[in-house]
Amino acid sequence: MSGSGKGLLGLWLYRNGSDWQMKGEAHQHSKFEVTRPQEAQHLDGEKISVIFTLKNQVGGLVKVLSVFQDLGINVLHIESRKSMTEISAADILVDVECDPRRMEHLKRMLKREVQEFELVSQETGKVFAPPTPLSAATSFDYGEMPWFPRKISDLDRAQNVLMYGSELDADHPGFKDPVYRKRREHFSAIANNYKYGQPIPRVQYTETEIKTWGIVFRELHKLYQKHACDEYLENWPQLVKYCGYREDNLPQLEDVSVFLKRKTGFQLRPVAGYLSPRDFLSGLAFRVFHCTQYIRHSSDPFYTPEPDCCHELLGHMPLLANPSFAQFSQELGLASLGASEDDIDKLATVINYKSLYFRR
Ligand SMILES: [Fe+2]
Repeated sequence: MSGSGKGLLGLWLYRNGSDWQMKGEAHQHSKFEVTRPQEAQHLDGEKISVIFTLKNQVGGLVKVLSVFQDLGINVLHIESRKSMTEISAADILVDVECDPRRMEHLKRMLKREVQEFELVSQETGKVFAPPTPLSAATSFDYGEMPWFPRKISDLDRAQNVLMYGSELDADHPGFKDPVYRKRREHFSAIANNYKYGQPIPRVQYTETEIKTWGIVFRELHKLYQKHACDEYLENWPQLVKYCGYREDNLPQLEDVSVFLKRKTGFQLRPVAGYLSPRDFLSGLAFRVFHCTQYIRHSSDPFYTPEPDCCHELLGHMPLLANPSFAQFSQELGLASLGASEDDIDKLATVINYKSLYFRR
């Protein structure tokens, strides 16, 4: 029988008086004794009996059976009888064929639907352990898995800046400008001292910085009107209204962070330079976007070798205010937690491609 669930009850759910007969050599269980249909012997995967108690309520069984359907697990046989331990409840037995990978999913999903259940191997009689609640998994053996933040405040330990920060390369436009370099040290200090939960310190941008911002803003705004996707443009008026997006004003990260949190649950965190892809992705998992606060050098407003606040505020923020884009970004981040270096590279590539904002 396939896991489609269609006609499942009509074909397999039956009652055999108050006693359940055992046929063949199936494992004996306190509530049920089971046999498998002959055709099931030829299917792949381990044959498992899933036993649980269900309160008598409309749709309860269908809901649980949909778990098997959703996981694509073959249901071979179903029986039910009045619960021996609870009034107004039924003991249900479902024979399935299940590989180990699906078994883990099955345990987790059943946990959401029924209070207690038991999984018994029909071949060996082995009772499978219930799933360990994630919150109690302090002793879980992560083996060789790279460290990853378990909670949002752990991001304080995931701030590996690979490039730039307070140190600039010799070919950086600001390398020979002591005023600019001093300024970058100031921004680095803000990012390096920042801890989760703090408001992002406001910055008094200089006249030069605001002028550079204005040049980039004016030019990009023209291009956005023409080329940016609807999801980008739809949030622009709100960024103007709530975050001060104007040619003569460089928005404060704290204001944008508060706005985003209200819109999609994303928040910003200041970063000193080019963050490692792993740490950047870890932030996304918690709906935290690492955001630079400094601006490119004034000598060349249309070039920067690194992300700066023009890149972040004009490029990323409007899309992070879009709920489905925010969700997608978080899912990429979640996929990165504990991932191998190879997988991090692939996810970082997806991130880079998804950041191509122009599509028409
Ligand atoms: Fe970016």
